[in-house]
Amino acid sequence: MYTFLRGTAYAVLSISVSATALQAQMVEPTTPPPPPAFDAQGEPVFVKRSDVFEYRALDSYSEPEWVTKKFVETGKLPPVEERLPAEPLVYKTANMPDGPGVYGDVMRHVIGGRPEGWNYIAGQSQGWGGIDIGLSECLTRTGPLFMIEPEDLEPMPNLAKSWEWSEDGKTLTVHLIEGAKWSDGDPFDMDDIEFYWNDHVLNPDITPLNGATQASFGEGTTLERVDDYTFNFHFQTPFPEQVLYNMAYGNFCPGPSHILKPEHPSYSDNTVEEYKNAFPPEMMNVPVMGAWVTVEYRPDDIIIMRRNPYYWKVDETGKQLPYLDEMHYRLSTWGDRDVQAVAGTGDFSNLEQAENFVESLRSSAREDAPAKLEFGPRIIGYSLYPNLSGNGWGQPDEREQAIRELNRNLKFRQAVSYGIDRERLGNSLVKGPFTAIYPGGLHAGTSYYDADSTVYYPYSVETAKALLAEVGLVDTDGNGFLNFPEDTAGGVDVNISLLTTSDYATDKNLTEGIVAMMEDIGLKVTPNIVSNNDRDALRRSGEYDWQTLRNPPNLVTVIQNTPQLAPTGPQTAEGHYANADGELDLLLWEQEMADVVNAFIASRDPVERAELMKTYQKLYTTNMPAIGLTQYPGALIINKRFSNVPAGAPIFMFNWAEDNIIRERVYVAEDAQQDHQVYPEALPGAPGSDGPME
Ligand code: GLA
Repeated sequence: MYTFLRGTAYAVLSISVSATALQAQMVEPTTPPPPPAFDAQGEPVFVKRSDVFEYRALDSYSEPEWVTKKFVETGKLPPVEERLPAEPLVYKTANMPDGPGVYGDVMRHVIGGRPEGWNYIAGQSQGWGGIDIGLSECLTRTGPLFMIEPEDLEPMPNLAKSWEWSEDGKTLTVHLIEGAKWSDGDPFDMDDIEFYWNDHVLNPDITPLNGATQASFGEGTTLERVDDYTFNFHFQTPFPEQVLYNMAYGNFCPGPSHILKPEHPSYSDNTVEEYKNAFPPEMMNVPVMGAWVTVEYRPDDIIIMRRNPYYWKVDETGKQLPYLDEMHYRLSTWGDRDVQAVAGTGDFSNLEQAENFVESLRSSAREDAPAKLEFGPRIIGYSLYPNLSGNGWGQPDEREQAIRELNRNLKFRQAVSYGIDRERLGNSLVKGPFTAIYPGGLHAGTSYYDADSTVYYPYSVETAKALLAEVGLVDTDGNGFLNFPEDTAGGVDVNISLLTTSDYATDKNLTEGIVAMMEDIGLKVTPNIVSNNDRDALRRSGEYDWQTLRNPPNLVTVIQNTPQLAPTGPQTAEGHYANADGELDLLLWEQEMADVVNAFIASRDPVERAELMKTYQKLYTTNMPAIGLTQYPGALIINKRFSNVPAGAPIFMFNWAEDNIIRERVYVAEDAQQDHQVYPEALPGAPGSDGPME
């Protein structure tokens, strides 16, 4: 049934539906209803990339006075001009919403995650919420692209200060910023790039936190060192421009090779696991290229960071950034992040759990509210991912394997989709114009979305039940739940385990809703609710039947993480990785999706690209590698005392708002500063030493 070809999917589908139409009231697939109007959205001020910053030498540089006095004059640090690259990244005044800033104060984040350790490039989570985004700088940068004019849309330089394509488009020469240093003063150069590429991206046993693999940069792509600050990427196909997006967060953010390399399995006796865990959360002052360095960690309480004295970005007046001297990450819950940001005891939140919308809106509407709240477009989406591997990924037992076979059956996925009342599901999170019916695939309202190419299986319990019967599932023991056929898993109840993170109320609520709706169509679903870190481990190793998951950003922007839109490589598609032998067992439509995505990456013609994405959307929503649940907007909540927060910063577009607002450029005006610094006038200490240096 799933072996149809592109373009014929619809026809085959309607035939099979009408053949059974006599037995039951089968509802035909349709297109999704237009999302409810929602116009409480902020507008960015659109500019060119070159309007935001440049790399150049200034006549003089400065830093907080106490740094000069306490650290430079006492010989603990070289003068600021020696710590900066010859040509630092200079933010232009004209693009600063409030102009050059002053030093001081803290941004108090609250997060729901917990750090596993500092080895980001070996796959450890730092607890999310902007921690790793702030610590790791990447070759290019995408967060601020929300304010870039569409005609100039291309990733911004960052650690890579420029690049050029060869005439045949098969070589990209990348120039790194020269003379930038890690937060302990060690030079940042090609050693860090080669260590990241050779020993992480190319090492099949080690995967950086956000999943970079060879496929992220194109199969067969090689990286060649030219000199200490230059490398060439060599590609199999001409002009794979999307690679510039995969040079951004979180795919090409190198770690400090001078610290990590001695522990890496290729250069030590350590196993992969030992390497991964060699930089535990208790280890302080691990060198970074980011604006703040971790100086204190109290489990389940707080992570504190102090300004990086080697940070390589300045303002036009020569002031070394960041303006904010300290960063806090309170280790609490994601729900508490909203509450605290609104109350003013925290400073920042991505309001993304729809359950908190009404209360947050009400409180921040008050005249004396400490924080402002601004909604953006509907870019938060949730999907139900069936595990589509039949190849042994995740080592399924007999029952689990039987569920994978069901997952791989289109009629089964259709039944599940028909069984979901998306309107009720959305309203169970929040009432009002926020949530919209989401059939899956690209988000409505985004550039490549095409409603006519979107197939929607609307809510119909009868249709769902009829399809399940066609699949061969019958309630043989009369307990209300469908059983496997007798020769499969002993004919027991089909009992599907639904992997869900415990860190977010929304994920749990959606899972609860799914369980109830599936019960109505005879499917028994048992939630498996675990911590986010454990969930991610299970999800990457394929140990689940179904999972409820917040959508990745590529379903919003398409042009970033593009290879991950389909199984273009052994570990690119959520829900279908290769087995231990590297084999993928793609269904025909999955292969078609991969072909379309590869054609999209290879194309530089906007019209062709738009057409390819229509085909993609049709393949996606017809076949449902993931079953869409709901989509809704998010709001940025930020304390009113901060300056230089760009207008219309969405919480999640090319990156999370923690990156979009350019935190190193954010400041608090002198008369608005508050007294939250735990370590005033202190700087990070030596790598591995306890706490900051006073
Ligand atoms: C988590 C949060 C998001 C955002 C990201 C940043 O996923 O839910 O709102 O803060 O971390 O990595």
